[in-house]
Amino acid sequence: MSRAVYPGSFDPFTNGHLDITQRGARIFDELIVAVLINSEKNAMFSVDERKIMAREAAVHLPNVKVMSFEGLLVDFMRQERSRVILRGLRALSDFEYEFQLAQMNRQLAPETETFFMVTDAKYSYLSSRSVKEVFQFGGAIQEFVPPGVFRRLRERIPPAGLK
Ligand code: PNS
Repeated sequence: MSRAVYPGSFDPFTNGHLDITQRGARIFDELIVAVLINSEKNAMFSVDERKIMAREAAVHLPNVKVMSFEGLLVDFMRQERSRVILRGLRALSDFEYEFQLAQMNRQLAPETETFFMVTDAKYSYLSSRSVKEVFQFGGAIQEFVPPGVFRRLRERIPPAGLK
């Protein structure tokens, strides 16, 4: 039985994340979307909100579970008895950071392997940060995020910024 972990901040979960989740769910028997509990980062949504949004978006995928983790990813991997870290790669600019992360994780836990999935071209420009920024300045983002995320963004950001 193969179990992979797809970790991230997911603040918020975008259609790019959903694409990786859906494709990962077809490859692995079980996929855990793992939301990082990070007190340093200036998050827009709480960990609980981020989990709910990811859960809503992946509700049609029975082998996907959404959890949160604190501290080192490799500790969570061991706790969940998974050896595969799944990450999406959008562009070359992602590579350096992802390479470092994968190397560090392998150093810390040699039994783990990082699998990269190339993002669908239509999401290659998409990030949680750009979605938040575009929305904050009144841009239309409905096609970039799952409906539950769109609804919560609208609640969060004042109507003046709506389109
Ligand atoms: O969506 P993100 O913010 O690019 O995800 C980054 C994430 C959550 C995968 C990474 O920051 C992480 O695993 N953090 C947990 C701490 C850790 O294990 N760090 C070790 C490598 S430096």
